[in-house]
Amino acid sequence: MNIGLLGYGTVGGGVDRILREDPALKVTRVLSLFSTEEMASRYTDRAEDILKDPAIDTVVEVLGGIHPAYEWISEAMRAGKNVVTANKAVVAACYRELVSLSREMNVSFRCTAAAGGGIPWLTSLERVKKNDRVEAVFGVMNGSCNYILSEMEKGGSFGAALKNAQALGFAERDPSADVDGPDTLRKLMISSCIAFNGYIAEDEIPCRGIRTVRTEDLAFLKEKGLKLKLFAYAAEKDGKVAAAVEPAAFPEGSALAGITKNLNLIGCRLQYGGTLTFTGEGAGRYPTAENVVRDLRDVAAFRPAFYADGLQPLHVDNTALKRIYYVRTSAEDPFLEKITAEKDGAYIKTLPVSVPEMHAFLSSLEADGTPVFAAAVPEEEAYA
Ligand SMILES: NC(=O)c1ccc[n+]([C@@H]2O[C@H](COP(=O)([O-])OP(=O)(O)OC[C@H]3O[C@@H](n4cnc5c(N)ncnc54)[C@H](OP(=O)(O)O)[C@@H]3O)[C@@H](O)[C@H]2O)c1
Repeated sequence: MNIGLLGYGTVGGGVDRILREDPALKVTRVLSLFSTEEMASRYTDRAEDILKDPAIDTVVEVLGGIHPAYEWISEAMRAGKNVVTANKAVVAACYRELVSLSREMNVSFRCTAAAGGGIPWLTSLERVKKNDRVEAVFGVMNGSCNYILSEMEKGGSFGAALKNAQALGFAERDPSADVDGPDTLRKLMISSCIAFNGYIAEDEIPCRGIRTVRTEDLAFLKEKGLKLKLFAYAAEKDGKVAAAVEPAAFPEGSALAGITKNLNLIGCRLQYGGTLTFTGEGAGRYPTAENVVRDLRDVAAFRPAFYADGLQPLHVDNTALKRIYYVRTSAEDPFLEKITAEKDGAYIKTLPVSVPEMHAFLSSLEADGTPVFAAAVPEEEAYA
């Protein structure tokens, strides 16, 4: 296999390092904005030197972002090249187009590192769904948020925990995709499309992040025997999908509560096979590069298909997705009064309330500048 590498950053450099010892998978050309000694004569700053080179049969895209990644992946496929990517932004935004094009051109398109970083989650999902129905996918899918919440449990503020996460390379300089939820949302969307064999638009899934969490919120939940996580969940029944990303509290002793530091826990519930969970490094140079290399080996072993066959639209319908919440706000509001089950100091425990209704209420408070925090308490059968 002759590989052209688009991007030589954290993941691209890792892929090149791992493959240096493998004569069967050769990185013959590297696109980067600057040259280094490791790239030597393989270096180019022109994407066409890879996309138009007939000797290159497989392209690895690890640039990040939607453009020009989408155009370059498409061009590679149109030229008959297989594509492996770790880029969740482009896969989530252009899922249908890229899967269709790979089919039309009969080339491989794999993106295992795009959800779960170093965890071989999507390949496992692809295998299990061949002979069982996936009822739900769920988990803690963002290592930066999990690290921040773990640090805050020790008493640190959100700002201090975020700074630490950035210093350790777990969070980007602009952390919004992590802490506001889009990164988790994209991983949930890609996992759901594969699990439920259809296409779900990213913007149909309600999403809240962890930016408004305070240290005292975690202390309050701890008193209740609960731990806070950024939780992603999607379940399919009769063609309808219930899905959400939001901060959620889990009982101490449960698997999700036990996932600390920058680790991920991702799982699925099967009709016959019970619940499967996978834990590991959700990010990082070598864990992520390993997943890219596993995809390359699958391509080399002539497993050309993408993970899913179906591209029919699946719509999100959350009307039946109801959860109890703990809410901290100073606002006095008729909706809040209607859903209050009990008051507990600065917090309100709600009755079961529909997730979209709750998200709309929280967004309206935030739009008025009212500080608010809410932790859902998902029903145990959602994740066990
Ligand atoms: N890092 C992880 O742990 C991880 C985990 C899972 C998935 N991913 C995904 O993997 C992808 C790559 O992530 P990364 O962490 O390796 O990012 P990164 O360190 O920023 O690397 C991307 C590289 O591509 C270069 N680049 C961007 N646009 C370019 C262009 N038009 N021409 C040439 N070079 C260009 C960047 O150069 P400049 O820096 O000079 O702009 C940078 O060197 C992303 O989609 C990310 O979401 C990463």
